[in-house]
Parts: sequence; structure tokens; C-alpha cells
Amino acid sequence: MSRLSRRGFLQFSVAAALASTAACSEDEPETSPDSRFPQGGFGAGATAEAVTEGVNLSGKTALVTGCNSGLGYETLSVLAQRGVHVIGTGRTLEKAQQACASVGGKTTPLALELADFQSAVDCADAVKGMGVQLDMVIANAGINAFGELILVDGIERTFRVNHLGHFVLVNQLLPLMNPQGGRIVHVGSRSAYKQAPPEGIVFDSLNGDVVLESGQYYGQSKLANALFSLQLSKQLAGSGVTSNVIHPGLVQTNIARNAPAVIRKGFEWVGPLIAKTPAEGAATQVYVAASPDVAGINGAYFEDCNPVTVNGPNHVFDEPMAQKLWQVSTQMTDGYV
Ligand SMILES: NC(=O)c1ccc[n+]([C@@H]2O[C@H](COP(=O)([O-])OP(=O)(O)OC[C@H]3O[C@@H](n4cnc5c(N)ncnc54)[C@H](OP(=O)(O)O)[C@@H]3O)[C@@H](O)[C@H]2O)c1
Repeated sequence: MSRLSRRGFLQFSVAAALASTAACSEDEPETSPDSRFPQGGFGAGATAEAVTEGVNLSGKTALVTGCNSGLGYETLSVLAQRGVHVIGTGRTLEKAQQACASVGGKTTPLALELADFQSAVDCADAVKGMGVQLDMVIANAGINAFGELILVDGIERTFRVNHLGHFVLVNQLLPLMNPQGGRIVHVGSRSAYKQAPPEGIVFDSLNGDVVLESGQYYGQSKLANALFSLQLSKQLAGSGVTSNVIHPGLVQTNIARNAPAVIRKGFEWVGPLIAKTPAEGAATQVYVAASPDVAGINGAYFEDCNPVTVNGPNHVFDEPMAQKLWQVSTQMTDGYV
């Protein structure tokens, strides 16, 4: 069996284990090419290096969150190698410094703790102080807590880190975006339609009033990434700046670090057979951030380097829900956006 078909055969079982709540039903949504946008020339096996081969990126500036691990590290490394000045963030300055120092090219490390809205404001202020214009923002950092409800300052933790922290950061950075082709890339996940609650964002769960199944917190936060991107794309229409969301694939990174030991061990064993490498996993976000093929595409959802739509029951393109999420997120981050 080829690596890719073996991947297809086995992927769901580990993805389901990782999802911890994955419910499979006959009407489970799947994707198909999004006919509103051109399809690209790359697929699941492409690497971040391959999708940027021959693309002139010198003189461009990018900000990548979560640059010290997994997809963020690969993104930092490849963009810097291609001549991009990469501002890489880590939860501590030391982590960002270490990552930046380990890749070639021009990099600037910054601290960003997404659970702390003031840290997002401080990070954006530091970028403003650098006097740069941003060509790419890759909102990549994220956690999968694989656990029960945890509140941080009264807000469910996974939603706070994966969505609200980036909501503050990206809004703060908007004035710095290059009006001639600046791109914001949100690293979401297909968990947005595989693992989110069937009704989409359960707004009463964000402060713990309603309790979800443990796996749904990650799915809900990844749906929030998609809806944030969607609503932002509407607001950016005609501005020259774009917003898109991507799913990297199942990738062997440290994302399962909080999973129960049996899932973590299982992923370590079978990961090399079924999951993408970080080089492959980072391809979609790097492609959407940097490839000339994607110029002008706004409001799309990408999997395996191609814009797709999601069939069946899902909320990935739910405009009223995106508007409501924006409103609620603004209230929840009052004073920081
Ligand atoms: N790997 C997959 O199969 C997969 C699939 C779908 C989507 N994704 C998404 O891909 C993105 C990157 O994940 P990854 O797979 O590369 O995982 P990873 O190796 O665990 O990297 C996650 C990064 O996010 C950072 N981070 C975590 N919590 C943070 C916080 N509170 N504030 C700031 N930064 C924080 C981590 O910093 P520390 O190392 O300091 O904790 C790390 O740099 C995530 O958004 C994830 O949801 C991954």
C-alpha cells in the first residue's frame, strides 16, 4: 500500500482517537473543491519548501505565532530560508529566541502568551515599535487540552488560547498589514466540523455555564478560528488584505502532548506511517501565506493546499454565527482590542 493510501486508510482511526469524541455518522461532512476559487498545483504530499520554491519573498515580513514547535517552527524556518524577515513568537522570549537562533536568515523573537490578552497587546506594540509593515501573519499557535473544562479568568481555556488571544493580536496588528497583498492565515483544523458541537459555537459554554464533552472544546475553538477568518475576510474585502483559514492535516508534532498516555504513545508509534511530517504539514499555511497562486483569495478554507468547501451539516461558513462570534469576542476582550 502506498504511503498516501495507507495514510488514508489509517488516518481516521488515530484522528478519531486524538479527537477523543469523534462521532462518525453516515452524514458526516466531507470536503469538495470550492468552485469560487482556483485550485492550486499542490496536494497532501507537498512540503513548505516545495510550495515556496522559486517564489521571491525577499524583503517581506511575516509574523508567526508558536514558532518554537511543530508547524510554527517549520514555518519560521522555511520562510526565513526564503529571505523573509520572520517575527517569531513563543510563550516566553527565551523559547522564541532559541527557535529563531536555530534557523538561518533574518528573525526577531518576541514573547506572546495567548492566554494573557495583555501579552497579545504587548506583542503587537513591540511589532509596532519595530516600524515594519506585515506581509503575512500566520496565527498558528494552539493547544489541544484533551481534557475537561478549565477556566482561565472565567473563560474556557482552549477557546481563550486558540481564538481570543489571536483575536486580540490580529486586530491589534491590522493597521500594520501591507494594503497591497497583506495576508492573514489562521491555522484552524478540520476539527471545526468533525469535533465541534453540532450546533456550532455554544456561546453559553465559553464561561463554563454549559459544559461540553471534553473533545468538543478543541473543535469549538477551531471552528472559532474559521469563523474569525470568515468575518475578518468580509471586513477586509476591498482593502488589499486577505484572511483565510487552513487545516494542516494530521501532523506529527507536539500537539498531542496533553493527550492521555495511550493516545500519545499510539501517535508516536503509528504517526510516522499515517501522519504528515511537519515539513508536509506546514505546506498549506506557508502556501496560503506566500504563494503567488493565492494572491487575492479571501475568505477561503484550505486543506492540502487547495480551497475546499465542507459538505453536510457544519458551521465553517456560517455567516450569522461568524458575526455573533465577532460581537461576543469583542465583548470578552473588552479593553484589549
Ligand atoms: N498537528 C496536527 O495534527 C494539527 C492538526 C490540525 C490543526 N493543528 C493546529 O496547528 C497549530 C500548530 O500546532 P502544532 O501541531 O505545531 O502543535 P505543537 O507542536 O504543540 O505547537 C504548538 C505551538 O503553540 C504554542 N502555544 C501553545 N499554547 C500557547 C499559548 N497559551 N500561548 C502562546 N503559544 C502557545 C506552543 O508553545 P509551547 O511549546 O511553549 O507550549 C507551540 O509553539 C495549532 O493551532 C493546532 O491546533 C495541528
